[in-house]
Amino acid sequence: MIMLLFLLLFKLIPANCLDSVQGRIVGGYTPSPNSIKYIVSIQSSKGQHFCGGCLVHKSWVLTAAHCNIGMDQMMLVAGDYTLGVFEGTEQYSKPLSLVPHPQYNRSTNNADIMLIKLSAPIELNRYVSLAPLPKQNAGLLAGRVCRVSGWGSTSHSGGLKPLILRTVKLPIVSTSRCNSSNSFSGNITTNMICAGSNTGGKDACKGDSGGPLVCDGRVYGLVSWGNGCGDPRFPGVYTAVSRFRRWIDQTIYSTFSRCLKSAGLFSREV
Ligand SMILES: *[C@@H]1O[C@H](CO)[C@@H](O)[C@H](O)[C@H]1NC(C)=O
Ligand SMILES: *[C@@H]1O[C@H](CO)[C@@H](O)[C@H](O)[C@H]1NC(C)=O
Ligand SMILES: *[C@@H]1O[C@H](CO)[C@@H](O)[C@H](O)[C@H]1NC(C)=O
Repeated sequence: MIMLLFLLLFKLIPANCLDSVQGRIVGGYTPSPNSIKYIVSIQSSKGQHFCGGCLVHKSWVLTAAHCNIGMDQMMLVAGDYTLGVFEGTEQYSKPLSLVPHPQYNRSTNNADIMLIKLSAPIELNRYVSLAPLPKQNAGLLAGRVCRVSGWGSTSHSGGLKPLILRTVKLPIVSTSRCNSSNSFSGNITTNMICAGSNTGGKDACKGDSGGPLVCDGRVYGLVSWGNGCGDPRFPGVYTAVSRFRRWIDQTIYSTFSRCLKSAGLFSREV
């Protein structure tokens, strides 16, 4: 349990897990500016990036539950590309409320998913769009190639150097392999999916937590936990978003209809 907690936290809190590798998306490349329009940087109130997320509604961001550091400490930035440089495409919003999944278990990492309601809606434009989600319980076959993106900054050790978004393509690893005694030995639940290269060297890493794993244009995974970064024996473990599609819709639309009702508005759309 201590081990798991450590494994979980290294992706969130700057640690020494990765002094040998770059503390960011491992083995990837820099996508062209604002080509991944749904990605959100979650920053501390001091402007320090610590997690990723994605925009699923103009007033809601989807991320990992372990990115919850308290509402007052968090700022969300959409439309960003180079952290630490104002490029004119960024939109900022503070959270209005946090909705971590009620079954989230920080010792097993099960149900590591959270919705953040924004205090002001984000404007959708050339730089910002919504992330499409998979249907409830939609599955992925092993070998399907997906991509994970993030800033994965290394806190103060990175200084004020601008950090450009990175992305890496990775195949889905079967749950049976990921859950086997050669790998995570029984710690993979049905609410998790694994992705990583057979030969290692490609992975999400600390600071990428909560960020989107996109397959066929939909967000199937959220960076959750792992064991080191880029080790072929230990693929990255992601929250299986398709297991939570119904919860996401219920959370977003039940709050939304309450708001409409309290504002005296009605709409058949919602
Ligand atoms: C988390 O999971 C562990 C192991 O299954 C269980 O013992 C514990 O009660 C769970 N904690 C919560 C808060 O659900
Ligand atoms: C799996 O979980 C057990 C019990 O929580 C832990 O002792 C073990 O280190 C974990 N193994 C891996 C590979 O994560
Ligand atoms: C992973 O292995 C454990 C222990 O054998 C098992 O309880 C669990 O259901 C397995 N997970 C999945 C998703 O099959």
